[in-house]
Amino acid sequence: MRIDILTLFPEMFDGVLNTSILGKAAEKGIVSFQVTNFRDYSESKHGTVDDTPYGGGGGMVLKPEPLFRAVEAIAGTDKPRVVLMCPQGKRYSQKIAEELAAERHLVFLCGHYEGYDERIREHLVTDEISIGDYVLTGGELAAMVVIDSIVRLQPGALGNQSSAVTDSFSTGLLEYPHYTRPAEFRGWRVPDILLSGHHANIERWRLKESLRRTLERRPELLEQLELTKTMQELLDEIRSEKA
Ligand code: ADE
Repeated sequence: MRIDILTLFPEMFDGVLNTSILGKAAEKGIVSFQVTNFRDYSESKHGTVDDTPYGGGGGMVLKPEPLFRAVEAIAGTDKPRVVLMCPQGKRYSQKIAEELAAERHLVFLCGHYEGYDERIREHLVTDEISIGDYVLTGGELAAMVVIDSIVRLQPGALGNQSSAVTDSFSTGLLEYPHYTRPAEFRGWRVPDILLSGHHANIERWRLKESLRRTLERRPELLEQLELTKTMQELLDEIRSEKA
């Protein structure tokens, strides 16, 4: 997979793309990152990338030429998804992460200004994504969040491939509680069932605790799920324990 990032602040990405899972994925050739300063594609001597808005008012607007020229140079004969990071975009989710993770080439546009010329949205961008209902100073941090969640889904990116499969949200449920040694810490014991070695009982306990956590913290997620008979039974157990 190839990931291009267009930004006026390329240095923001140095640490994130070179560290831990993302850095290793790049080293292993699972993904290649290319960060481009789109000021280099400005048509003016001074590297101008923005201008005042037609119709007046405050703030600056990103001009179309540098971004169109940069994306066209990067895309070549590819037809990459071109993702604009902005608070007006579609709310990001694990489902969108899985969809983007299946692409071969993604281009992220990160702006720091008041706005983008609307022709960028209409004729250059294929997707607009927001990472939540709050406003950041720019799209860079949001792009890092999205890129991180996509790269960890690439086959071979995580040491233990099963960890992506049992993630919160991938299953539609929040993850069950995890424990490691010691079996007793400051008087707090690990649940006996996890020490029993009885795999079927452990699986059932984990599913039940996933359901409990989801019911307590994110009940709306359960409504979107087709419950199996076992899940229904476990939810009944949880509800009767509470009563
Ligand atoms: N740029 C500024 N705020 C943003 C957000 N919430 N999501 C994506 N990009 C942004």
